[in-house]
Amino acid sequence: MVRFTAPRGTQDILPEDQPYWRYVEERLHAIAHLYGYERITPPIFEDTAIFERGVGEGTDIVEKEMYTFLDRGGKSLTLRPEFTASVVRAYIEHGMHVRPQPVKLYSIGPAFRYERPQAGRYRQHHQFNVEAIGTQDPAVDLEVMSLAWQLYDELGFRDLAFQINSTGCPRCKPGYVQALKKYYADKLSAVCEDCRRRYEQNPLRLLDCKVESCQPFIDGAPHFLDYLCDECATHFATLRGYLDALGRPYTLNHRLVRGLDYYTKTVFEVWAAGIGAQAAVCGGGRYDGLAEALGGPPTPGVGFASGIERIILTMKAQGVEVPPPPRPLALIATLGEEAKLAGIKLVTDLRAAGIPVVLAFGDRSLRSQMREASRLGVAYTLILGADEVQARQVIVRDMAAASQEPVAQGEVVAWLKAKFLSSRDGNCECAQT
Ligand code: HAM
Repeated sequence: MVRFTAPRGTQDILPEDQPYWRYVEERLHAIAHLYGYERITPPIFEDTAIFERGVGEGTDIVEKEMYTFLDRGGKSLTLRPEFTASVVRAYIEHGMHVRPQPVKLYSIGPAFRYERPQAGRYRQHHQFNVEAIGTQDPAVDLEVMSLAWQLYDELGFRDLAFQINSTGCPRCKPGYVQALKKYYADKLSAVCEDCRRRYEQNPLRLLDCKVESCQPFIDGAPHFLDYLCDECATHFATLRGYLDALGRPYTLNHRLVRGLDYYTKTVFEVWAAGIGAQAAVCGGGRYDGLAEALGGPPTPGVGFASGIERIILTMKAQGVEVPPPPRPLALIATLGEEAKLAGIKLVTDLRAAGIPVVLAFGDRSLRSQMREASRLGVAYTLILGADEVQARQVIVRDMAAASQEPVAQGEVVAWLKAKFLSSRDGNCECAQT
């Protein structure tokens, strides 16, 4: 028999991990709303050309990592490897330029990249993606960076490193690329094979090489910041002035170029301790030419995305705790057919009153049903046998106190509701956030 498993690089998010996901997603919605971002949910697949033109044909993502397929009509579609190109496509398609600018949008959902799976790197991962489209103002660059900063701060992360750089614009990029190529021209026999390919196809990515023997060459490479045009230099200086004014620590990282072609001016990443080699918990930057590349009017934009799996890995590595999952308040244990029917009625009434309860299924001993109650961690077990049905009562067992008392069937909903409300007030999740 074939034994099926989840596809390589994907994972089941099991019930025990859901408290992390639920907690993080709540924080993501809250921080987005705090900063005035509205949710947009683009489709999971798009025209392949959107990513070819947006992310760039020479990038690893487009060259090697996309899940591209022909649909039954023969159209080439791609499972989104990222959100930015989709969100900008939606901005253009829905004429969002008539709205107050920038249009501030966030998304949460899966993205797909055929990568070599390892800790923190998956073929299906989930992103929290933030975009502010329609304004050149460096204060918007600051805003998206601040949003990331506050998010991680509120999640309780320590040892964060904000890395920033500028990758110029179409006016100054060619000059820098030329200088970079000139610098590498007499080193090609010494660099790795990938770097030789990058030299021809995507020279900026030379700075991104992880091969040990290429590192000294990268260290000596010219810095983009020395080649910025006046406009890009002013933009970057203004952003740095804002970061300094807010006292936000950051590192100027001359190697930071990012793996997507649409970036112009600001690029940044946040590195977090605890997720190994895949240290970037988020990455982003400005993409002032992307809308035009997708056939729209010139429209600047800036944003970032954070991998939710990497957020959760960081939380676990750094010992950040999350509220426990909600549990049923009570389990109803029954003995015999009559009691089962009474139990079914009772569980229906309790749930209709909004009280989370479960019914023990099957024809089992009371002992086995009590074991289930302990395993679930319920506060009460409601016991119904033939005698209780006769007396129109329920035995309510307080699991922590190991004591029990009879409660009239007609009163048990109100009785448990009072317990439920007080337990809920006592364990308010918001108190822990
Ligand atoms: P990215 O750096 O390719 O940027 O991905 C953003 C984040 O998604 C990464 O920092 C990482 O946390 C997570 N991530 C990426 N690939 C994987 C993977 N294979 N497994 C697990 N996590 C992963 C973008 O996608 C840009 N669209 C970000 C952006 C938005 N730039 C401007 N606006």
